[in-house]
Order: sequence, then C-alpha cells, then structure tokens
Amino acid sequence: MQFHDLKEKIIIIDFGSQVTKLIARRIRDLGVFSEIITINDLHKIKNYNEIKGIILSGGPSTVTKKIFPRIPKEIFLKKIPILGICYGLQLIAKLFGGYIKSSKTKREFGRAILFRKNQSLLTKNFFNIKNKSVWMSHQDAVTKAPKGFKTIASTKESKLTIIENTNSNIYGVQFHPEVTHTENGKQIFKNFLFSICKIKKKWHVTSQKIKLIKEIKKIVKNDKVICALSGGVDSSVVALLINKAIRKNLICIMVDTGLMRKDEFKYSYNIFKKKYKLNVKLINASKIYFKKLKNIHDPEKKRKIIGNLFIKIFEKESRRFKGIKYLAQGTLYPDVIESRSATGSQSSKIKSHHNVGGLPKKMNLKLIEPLKEFFKDEVRILGKSLGLIDNIRKKHPFPGPGLAIRIVGRVTPQKIKILQEADYIYINELINQKLYHKIWQAYVGLLPMKTVGVMGDSRTYEYTCLLRAVVSEDGMTADYFNFPKDFLDKISNKIVNGVPGINRVVYDITSKPPSTIELE
Ligand code: XMP
Repeated sequence: MQFHDLKEKIIIIDFGSQVTKLIARRIRDLGVFSEIITINDLHKIKNYNEIKGIILSGGPSTVTKKIFPRIPKEIFLKKIPILGICYGLQLIAKLFGGYIKSSKTKREFGRAILFRKNQSLLTKNFFNIKNKSVWMSHQDAVTKAPKGFKTIASTKESKLTIIENTNSNIYGVQFHPEVTHTENGKQIFKNFLFSICKIKKKWHVTSQKIKLIKEIKKIVKNDKVICALSGGVDSSVVALLINKAIRKNLICIMVDTGLMRKDEFKYSYNIFKKKYKLNVKLINASKIYFKKLKNIHDPEKKRKIIGNLFIKIFEKESRRFKGIKYLAQGTLYPDVIESRSATGSQSSKIKSHHNVGGLPKKMNLKLIEPLKEFFKDEVRILGKSLGLIDNIRKKHPFPGPGLAIRIVGRVTPQKIKILQEADYIYINELINQKLYHKIWQAYVGLLPMKTVGVMGDSRTYEYTCLLRAVVSEDGMTADYFNFPKDFLDKISNKIVNGVPGINRVVYDITSKPPSTIELE
C-alpha cells in the first residue's frame, strides 16, 4: 500500500547508523522525497530511472574485515550520483581500490575541524571561511584514495575527509552532514540534490493530504474502519484523515486507562466528539488497570500488563460493532525503519514499547497505516492542514503505558493523583513561560521514597518528585534542558506548596545515553 505518487526520489541505503533517519529528514526538509532501504531490499527496485541519487549511510561495520556489508558494483555503473557518508565513503574507497585503515590513535569522535583543499560542487557555499566545524564518529579512515578520486577537504587526523570522482558522479564524506553538530551540513545535501542529482523540489506534505484521502477512499470503499484514539498527535491525525475520507464508517475507541495526564482524556474526548464530530466511543477502564497493576513494581511487567489489557479491552469493544474490515494505526516512518534491521544484526531491545501492534493478527482485521511514510514533524504539518488544534498537534510525545512508567515502583490511584497535580503545575508553568515548545518532552516523575521535610512548624514525611525536560530530535538521543535557576526555584516552590504528598523536588540532569527519557 503506497500513499504517495511521486516518481522521482533519492534512496538512502542503510548500513545501520544510528542517524540514518536524519539523512532522510534533511532531504525531505529540502522538499525532496527520500526513502531508506536496506541492502536486502535492493533487489526489489524495479525502475532505477526514478532514482535520482543514492546515499550510502554510515554504520558500525568495517571494510577492513574479510566480510562486510556492500552493494553490487553494478549500481555504480548506472551513472546515478552517489554520496557515501562515513562507512559509505569507506565502502566506496574499498570497492574502487583505495586503502582503509583502522586506527586507535587517529580515530575521531565528536567535533573536528575541516580544511578546504579543492573546490567542489558538493561544497559550494559550505565553507564560508576556509575551515569548518564538522561532527565525526569513526575509527576506520581512508588512507589512500582510489584512482580517479580527488581530495576536496581534510582534517588533521584524516587526509581524505571529502573525496570525489566527478566523471563517475561519486562523492564521499567522512563526517556526518546530517547531524546538527555539523555547521551548515544542510548545504552538502542541498548541493548534492540540486546541483549534482538535479532533482526537483516536489515533496510537500500538505499536497500529500488530498492524495492520502483519495487513496484511503479507494482502499476502504464502503467498509468500516476502527481506530484506537489516544489523543496523541499520531492517532489524532490518522482519525481526522480517515474521517475526511469515509466519515461515519470510521469508529474510534478511546480507552481511558486512568494513567493519563490530569484532565487530558476528557478534554480530547470532547474535542473529537464535539468539534470534529467523530464517531467516538469512550471506555472508562481505570478501575481494572489499577487492579491489575496492584503491587507490580517491575517496569517490564507493568508494560506487559498495560499493553495486554489494552488489547483485550479494544478487542472486546470492537466486537460490538458489526462488519469492521480495517484497523487504522498511526505507525510512522521511523517505526517502519526501526522494525527492520539494516544489516541483519543491530540494536538490542532496551525497553519493550507499548502500542497497538499485534492487534490485527488476533482480530483478523486488515491494517491501514496512512502515516507510515511520514516523520513526526511531517505528521504535525499534516495535522495543521486537517485543522487539528495546536493543543493536540504540538503536544509533547507521551508513552503508551502513560504515567505508570513515570511512577517508579508500585502504582496506586493516590500516587497517580499526586503525580497528575505536580505535572499539571509544571507543564502549565512551561507553557506560561514560553518554554514548552523549546523542549522535546517534559514531565514530572514520582520517586518511590519518602523523605523528611519541614513545613510551618511541622515535620513532614512525603514523596520526592523528579522534573524531567529534554531536548531531542527524535527521542533516540537527548540532552537535559538548561533551565534558568529562577524557573527551577519557582516550580519547586509551586509544587511543594500546591501538592500535598510532595515535600522535595529534584531536577534530572542526565542525558540519553546513558539514561533514558522515561524513568522505566
Ligand atoms: P526512552 O525512555 O526509551 O523513550 O528514552 C524514548 C521515547 O519513547 C517514548 N516511549 C514510549 N512510547 N510506548 C510508547 O508509545 C512506550 O512504551 C514507550 N516508552 C518510551 C518516550 O516517551 C520517549 O519519547
């Protein structure tokens, strides 16, 4: 099922880098459709004429071993412009007869200064001065360029940091232009796309809306679709989109787990019911959630209980409706990329994420995932063109298991209430101080310990809450937000004075890695 009709595109061959997704995002931001594929998918490409450029990503492998992930050399003979990044550059060098060496002393991780040696189309307007700060992450380096390749730029440790062979239209960079730490990295992509690949800007998210609605109509016809609506950005956009296509044949189910932020569920329900006139059924399931979570303190157990219960309730409720053929899900492009492995091995599972995956197998419904080619920012743009209110459209991400994973240890209705109140104060203060949209995700967590405090003339013995606020581009890595001291003073005061049950406030100053964004 494909929801767009663009012919020309750039493909990114993923060798397993943590930041491959960012390459696709940068290209889409420049108005060009890009798709990430793995080496195992190469054989599925039917028409190379539609591919205007190929980018080879970075990755954890090394070409200094006997066996390493590679692409067939014939791809280079098709005369499609190719840009290799990090491992991609080393692979190009290896396949064309250059030398690559692994070195513990000449490796570069983090910032490096790049010096221009020659002019290139790829670096047009990139060096506004003669050198440039770029972001590196490599231990292997090209020590001898293949025949026909020219050096464009070097760093102190690696002479061949940018190389090119203009006759064959092949370019390679050792640093990562896709990460924001590389100054002006976007210019490298701009040059590659428009000066080298000569592709046109044709990717506009809002113009995709009409095509998406048409495609949904064509697929669903007069059948019924069911959708789990949480009030988060993704499920809200899916619901509005499908509603535009098939109106009353869309049934939305909202399951109130009791684990949401204060008043949020009621608020979203009213918006969807009254403002957007969706066919929504609200299920209040908080009692059963609290019952099942009683005395459970293990994070993974909590997630499993919440996920399984959700499936059970959703299944039961959907059986009340006759003739449903489709299940709509807010799967995004990063979910699709993450669910397949670039080279066959890759990342270990850190936490089991809860969403509605797994439902269709049991329920025998066909899956409809209209957002599966979009990134989160693109979904927000789509939401805007569908009239989704900013309070929902620009909301921070919220995890499926809800506040249960923001309470370390046992979850009780009383702890949820304390947490909701503190979180409400924190989030409102962020909005009032115009900090909310500078932050990727912010929340209050509740720690499983009580400490002594003093209020008035009395001794208190209450919980400690933790404030979390991080900046991030995709949730994979994150830095803690640097609040002014005044803000922290104010919020600590407001929470301790306003929330019975909390007498101490701490601010989490760990980044991800080594920490994670959520507490459990
Ligand atoms: P972590 O804690 O792994 O979170 O650094 C990264 C991002 O994922 C969100 N998250 C989840 N989302 N179900 C979800 O739908 C989950 O089980 C889940 N766990 C974490 C988290 O809020 C952050 O945005």
